[in-house]
Amino acid sequence: MRYKSQSVAYWYFAVAVALFGLQLVFGLLSAAKYLGPDPLLYILPFDVTKVIHTNLLIVWVLTGFMGATYWMVPDESRTELHSVKLAYVQLVLWTLMGVATVVGYLFRYGTGNKLLEQPLPSKIVIVIVMLMFLYNIAMTIKNSGRFTTTEGVLVGGLGLAALLYLPALLEYKNYTVSIYYRWWTIHLWVEGVWEMIQGGFLAYLLIRLSGADREVMEKWLYVIVGLVFIAGILGTAHHYYWVGVPSYWLPIGGFFSALEPLALIGMAMYAYSSIRRSGLAHPNKLALHWTVGSAVFTLFGAGLLGLAHTFPSVNKWTHGTLITAMHGHAAFYGAYAMIVLAMITYALPTFTRRPEEGTALGYTSFWMQIAGMFGMTLSFATAGIGQVYLERIMGMGYLDAQLKIQIHFVMLIITASIFAIGVGLFIIDFFRYRPSFEVRSERDADLRPVKPGQGARPAMA
Ligand code: HEM
Ligand code: HEM
Ligand SMILES: [Fe+2]
Repeated sequence: MRYKSQSVAYWYFAVAVALFGLQLVFGLLSAAKYLGPDPLLYILPFDVTKVIHTNLLIVWVLTGFMGATYWMVPDESRTELHSVKLAYVQLVLWTLMGVATVVGYLFRYGTGNKLLEQPLPSKIVIVIVMLMFLYNIAMTIKNSGRFTTTEGVLVGGLGLAALLYLPALLEYKNYTVSIYYRWWTIHLWVEGVWEMIQGGFLAYLLIRLSGADREVMEKWLYVIVGLVFIAGILGTAHHYYWVGVPSYWLPIGGFFSALEPLALIGMAMYAYSSIRRSGLAHPNKLALHWTVGSAVFTLFGAGLLGLAHTFPSVNKWTHGTLITAMHGHAAFYGAYAMIVLAMITYALPTFTRRPEEGTALGYTSFWMQIAGMFGMTLSFATAGIGQVYLERIMGMGYLDAQLKIQIHFVMLIITASIFAIGVGLFIIDFFRYRPSFEVRSERDADLRPVKPGQGARPAMA
């Protein structure tokens, strides 16, 4: 690392990967319940394990975002962080809030609003933590006087993510109104401002790893962010089809959300072409796997599998079924889990003695996770197709239909175990090297001259 204060990122990453592991425990528990019998029915029923599974996901991904930002902003702005102490206080507060909220769920303390189940005290702590975080980042950038487009897109995405959490603080008695505003947070996060965050990290990693021309990369970043907003904002309406709002939302949702994959195609092309253009000179090939992997898996999970059920004529059958879980897993993993794992993999050799090019364990982890998540997606898809046909088209009762599709949950558990072992290997690879936090300025890829014959083909911008 180039700046001493970047070491705070290590502790954020450590918390993130530990919570990632815990998230999977609750995922496997939720999946096992589909096979029954359930000895934990009265202690830990499905709704509780699922809430913990999805909330831990959001907490660890956001921890990863914050850590990666504390890593990237000093690098981009070429300065130390404004306050290391504040960053640590923030991490402690955040982790305590996350753990307390999960313990609260065990005792049924929560709001029941899907993905925003956090009780009000937790929500208030979340807002305070976000303010501390944004203040620290803003002051760092202000003190340095250097503000790049890449970090602008990242910080813009983080600021808007905090702003869009505010509707989640309000409670509405009317169910339609409540659902209507819930999507302002959830949809506009994952299909709007979080894509700015992913785009910011992606551009940073590609510039560093491929040595691609910053100006060209940043121009493309604007185009991608533009596309995200054009399609993503009105695309929110693909959640309004059946919630009791006027029917004009149906064509709006169908049309605009069908445009959303364009930005994701742009992102995957952007990653691929920058790697082709600049060659593979950087030694940290493992980080390159995660970076390009994230762009490609997002196109598959969010772009293709999102499109698969976004038109009203399809969604009227698939809404709220395992088809949704199929898409939710592949999209969230590709876009947000993988980009955090990419940032961790890029930064880790500078905190520890992990070899720059990655370890055999690291590559095994990568491929097991990819294969496992692909298999999980197929398991949810086959289960979902069966469910839609039996339950929605043939009119079979919910539980009878579930019994008929149990075989797909056997496949889910097998593939999820492969995935979970992959994640376990990632966690081992992370923790097996003791951190040392030496400041080494020569490490950075964009400062290192590319050796002749090792890439850097002429730009085809
Ligand atoms: C990285 C981007 C994305 C992520 C992380 C993501 C994640 C999710 C998640 C978690 C849900 C379930 C939400 C809930 O029921 O509370 C969902 C629903 C949905 N997503 Fe996405 N999504 C992404 C992009 C897209 C795109 C690009 C499209 C369309 C082209 C799309 C179409 C849909 C639709 C139609 C639903 C509603 C399913 C239903 O009616 O049950 N998503 N998404
Ligand atoms: C060991 C691996 C995992 C297993 C066994 C697993 C299993 C499950 C199960 C059974 C559900 C409930 C589905 C339902 O409502 O019927 C669920 C929900 C969910 N999981 Fe996982 N999961 C795993 C990993 C992950 C990962 C890595 C992510 C994201 C990166 C993720 C994201 C989600 C989301 C967003 C939902 C809510 C989907 C919805 O309500 O439509 N899961 N998971
Ligand atoms: Fe959406």
